[in-house]
Amino acid sequence: MPTTLDPQLKRALADRIRYYNDLGIYDFYRREGSQSSVIFEDSEQVESEERESMAKAKSAAAVSPTEQIVSISPKPESGISDPVQALRMIREDIGDCTRCKLSKQGRKQIVFGVGNPNADLMFIGEAPGADEDIQGEPFVGRAGQLLTNMIKAMGVTREDVYIANIIKCRPPGNRQPERDECETCSPFLMRQIEVVKPKVIVALGAVAAKTLLAVSAPMSELRGRWFDFKGTKLAVTYHPAFLLRDPRQKKETWKDLQMVMKELGMALPSKSVE
Ligand code: URA
Repeated sequence: MPTTLDPQLKRALADRIRYYNDLGIYDFYRREGSQSSVIFEDSEQVESEERESMAKAKSAAAVSPTEQIVSISPKPESGISDPVQALRMIREDIGDCTRCKLSKQGRKQIVFGVGNPNADLMFIGEAPGADEDIQGEPFVGRAGQLLTNMIKAMGVTREDVYIANIIKCRPPGNRQPERDECETCSPFLMRQIEVVKPKVIVALGAVAAKTLLAVSAPMSELRGRWFDFKGTKLAVTYHPAFLLRDPRQKKETWKDLQMVMKELGMALPSKSVE
């Protein structure tokens, strides 16, 4: 490996790094040798596609022993110990974002995230809806009311936890976020997670779970168990909007939340989600 780079290559690399930084990406992964045989070494024996993607999920969020995170240029918030200030810097870095097509599809404002910047518990939803787009805060509409009740049922308040979404702009007509939108926006969420450093993340619904875990599996296989998300425990439960459509699943959701409360050493109230 040469110790000095050709100036032209150096300039090209610097341009490329600046390009990624503009997209909010600062962590690069250095791979040594062939990592695929290490990360998915058991996958030959796995039969169904879904099982395979579950196996991937176990390791996708974790950095493999053959990978190293390389910080080439520091994130604007690195070295800032005050999480309020660090989150402000991430928000400033996002600016009046035009990185994806949603900026031209009627979104009113960016919905960054809300709550305790030192929260032990972080909820991650899918995307802002109409109410969130108007108010600039995640989960303030009908589904948000239900999430607020779920949080209260756990014996805490919205101000105790941190709430964010996979993407920060409302998709037109409340359609599901598209893959390119999730990929463009999620680096900023990753940085918010790094600042808040929750002990537990709860992914609300399949879009959040699948994006965070890079997995394609039904909710039945995602709920009721722990995942490792870059060293943080992650649980999956139903999205509150789904619970509004099928309130019978609230019982199941309560089981998920109790699993989370147990992990966080929270007292278990007898009340369930209403
Ligand atoms: N649904 C989400 O996933 N997020 C919100 O902020 C509101 C509704």
